Amino acid sequence: MRGDKRMGWFLALACVTLAWALGGCSPGGGGSTESAAGPATASGFQVDPSFVSEGVAERAEANYAAQCASCHGAAGDGRGPVGGALSPAPTNFTAAPIPAHRAYEAIRGGGMAVGMAATMPAFESAFSAEEIHDLVAYVRAFAAR
Ligand code: HEC
Repeated sequence: MRGDKRMGWFLALACVTLAWALGGCSPGGGGSTESAAGPATASGFQVDPSFVSEGVAERAEANYAAQCASCHGAAGDGRGPVGGALSPAPTNFTAAPIPAHRAYEAIRGGGMAVGMAATMPAFESAFSAEEIHDLVAYVRAFAAR
């Protein structure tokens, strides 16, 4: 049965290709996601620096405009209308990308959670973990613009 044999090879090849594309053919899902995961925050939240969820730009932009731009500025330069009066000044996000796990903790628990100014509010009751994650991606992107 030549045809069956060729089919077998085709399936093996398809599996290898899928394994490469999806990151694992092994039973139980494989461990490929572990190496891609970022550091855990103090609260135990596993940050994936490359994480971008569906609709991230729109949702994070709206949340940033409503809750963050007054201090950090619409352009992320730390020069919002309220921020100008603060000392220390709100972080300028355009200078260099803040490590994702650190940004997550700062937004979740406020400035004091990362040893920064207490004038940076905590947003854990205002936003879901996913919304905070999206904001992390959003503020980090200012440095790449
Ligand atoms: C009342 C003003 C204010 C508001 C509102 C505010 N921040 Fe901040 N933010 C600050 C200040 C001040 C700091 C700390 C600056 C320092 O200590 O040098 C800070 C620090 C941070 C940091 C830490 C930066 C670092 O270097 O680790 C992040 C991230 C951050 N803010 C994100 C946000 C986001 C996202 C929002 C909106 C959800 C927000 N902030 C709203 C004032 C504010």
